[in-house]
Amino acid sequence: MKKYQLAKGCTDLSGLKLVDCDTPKPGTGQVLIKVHATSLNYRDHAVVSGNYFGGVLKRDTVPLSDGAGEVVEVGPGVTRVRPGQRVAGTFFQVWADGEPDLGKIAALGSPLDGMLAEYVVLHEDGVVPIPEHLSYEEAATLPCAGVTAWNALMFSGAVRPGQSVLTLGTGGVSIFALQFAKLAGARVLITSSSDEKLARAKKLGADDVINYRKTPAWEQEVVRLTGRGVDHVIEVGGTGTLAKSFQSVGFRGQVALIGVLAGREGDTNPHSLMLKNASLRGIFVGSRRMFEDMNAAIAVNRLRPVVDKSFDFTDAAEAFSYQLAGKHFGKVAIRVAD
Ligand SMILES: NC(=O)c1ccc[n+]([C@@H]2O[C@H](COP(=O)([O-])OP(=O)(O)OC[C@H]3O[C@@H](n4cnc5c(N)ncnc54)[C@H](OP(=O)(O)O)[C@@H]3O)[C@@H](O)[C@H]2O)c1
Repeated sequence: MKKYQLAKGCTDLSGLKLVDCDTPKPGTGQVLIKVHATSLNYRDHAVVSGNYFGGVLKRDTVPLSDGAGEVVEVGPGVTRVRPGQRVAGTFFQVWADGEPDLGKIAALGSPLDGMLAEYVVLHEDGVVPIPEHLSYEEAATLPCAGVTAWNALMFSGAVRPGQSVLTLGTGGVSIFALQFAKLAGARVLITSSSDEKLARAKKLGADDVINYRKTPAWEQEVVRLTGRGVDHVIEVGGTGTLAKSFQSVGFRGQVALIGVLAGREGDTNPHSLMLKNASLRGIFVGSRRMFEDMNAAIAVNRLRPVVDKSFDFTDAAEAFSYQLAGKHFGKVAIRVAD
């Protein structure tokens, strides 16, 4: 079989290599998955460049947290899944439900080996069945971006019909947030650097769109449009957008602290949250239970994740470059097998 590896210590895509290896055997409690598709997240670039938690990779590592495939063999003692089932890996391999042991949870694609391989072995507790109506490419977008948006809005945010949601940019997390917010009956405001992407967001149900290049004071536009600020902000920009997100949120609203697209260092003053009784909540992907709940909602509503572009397995490096350039709307996938 073939798999990709990022070389120990790598700091750019020259460290990405396609290698041959033996197909692994599932041990006790493990399952062998024939991977059909994977997808990329912004986080995967941080891993490539050595900027993810823990710094540069300490060993050669299979990249990508997200992937979906078919269970082809199970090891002794496996009861949760069976051969032939279509599954996705969970981002964190040991956070089933409730409060995780933060010292133990570990993610696929760093520090654990990830999904950019023809076959992977995962523990049975680290996989979930995928909705039947989804292709493998669509299902491969769910583990990180999908679960993060679900946690921020539906679990931690408990968004209610009629509330308002502001989501920043049109990347993976933000487009899932748009889709889930519409499922929940909320009003969605979305920003983007591109009018063309904003038009696509409107087709997906966005109620109000703001080009953050043309309207640098977009937080004022959010307050003008809503009259009072929004109930939820999907904050993926980090310190480059945080102060504006604090201005955008309304009374008793919540800013879900998720990303660092516009910077990670800074000294943003949270004082305005106090005056508005608003909160700032950190979000770190989510548990398997959240993933299962999200899949149930996706299945009932026949929601389809937005795959902007799919690349062949042999073109994985191009997929990384395309995603990093920020040309995509929603998700970028890699087909591993038909
Ligand atoms: N905490 C967690 O558990 C968690 C989980 C998943 C992701 N994240 C983080 O969340 C962020 C988003 O991840 P992703 O995978 O969804 O990213 P992505 O798909 O790569 O999103 C890229 C898009 O973000 C938008 N963007 C870039 N800079 C922006 C800015 N200054 N203001 C507003 N939008 C901006 C752009 O949209 P336009 O082209 O429309 O302008 C760009 O196309 C990343 O920082 C990632 O590390 C965190």
